[in-house]
Amino acid sequence: MRTSRRALIIAAGASLLPLHPTLAAALIATPSQTEGPFYPTALPADTDNDLVQVRGQAAQAMGTVLHLQGRVLDLNGRPVEGALVEIWQCDAQGIYDHPRQPGRERRDSAFQGYGRMMAADGRYSFRTLRPVAYPGRTPHIHVKVATAGGGLLTSQFYIAGEPGNERDGIFRAAARDLRQRERIEMRLAPAPGLETGALATTMDIVVG
Ligand SMILES: [Fe+2]
Repeated sequence: MRTSRRALIIAAGASLLPLHPTLAAALIATPSQTEGPFYPTALPADTDNDLVQVRGQAAQAMGTVLHLQGRVLDLNGRPVEGALVEIWQCDAQGIYDHPRQPGRERRDSAFQGYGRMMAADGRYSFRTLRPVAYPGRTPHIHVKVATAGGGLLTSQFYIAGEPGNERDGIFRAAARDLRQRERIEMRLAPAPGLETGALATTMDIVVG
């Protein structure tokens, strides 16, 4: 059938219209993963978003500094207001500050181990450590997000390309879907503008 010039003009104009809402909801949620056994039983005295520096201590934590930042988004890509973001992880020797942690007394007391912050305009940021492996697990950072609407997401972030990832059952289960994998793999880059010797990564957290 011959297409009229008018029909072509209409078709061209249609592509400039905003996406239909169902098409715009294109983001995939950050996959839920186990909290694991090391969520703090008691929060440390200092719970701010700089885990490398404990308030009142001169020493900085051992390990490579990692600036972790991003946004908390809904499935439509809109910033989520009033989201509390928590992270926790082991120190540079693989030791958590937790009663169930064997060798806890050897932990680096200059590492805060846990931090939290209220996202502002959906944005969060932490100064923490590049995570390290410990027996049975590939390097990871635990994350929990509580939204003002009562939503709760518990997940973990990993280092993209880390050889141990594919041997880690928790990682494999969460990364089975390639789009979910993007949500949990941190791509680390040097961050000389932020801090000498430090790394940086951006991880948006998408809550369903
Ligand atoms: Fe862990």
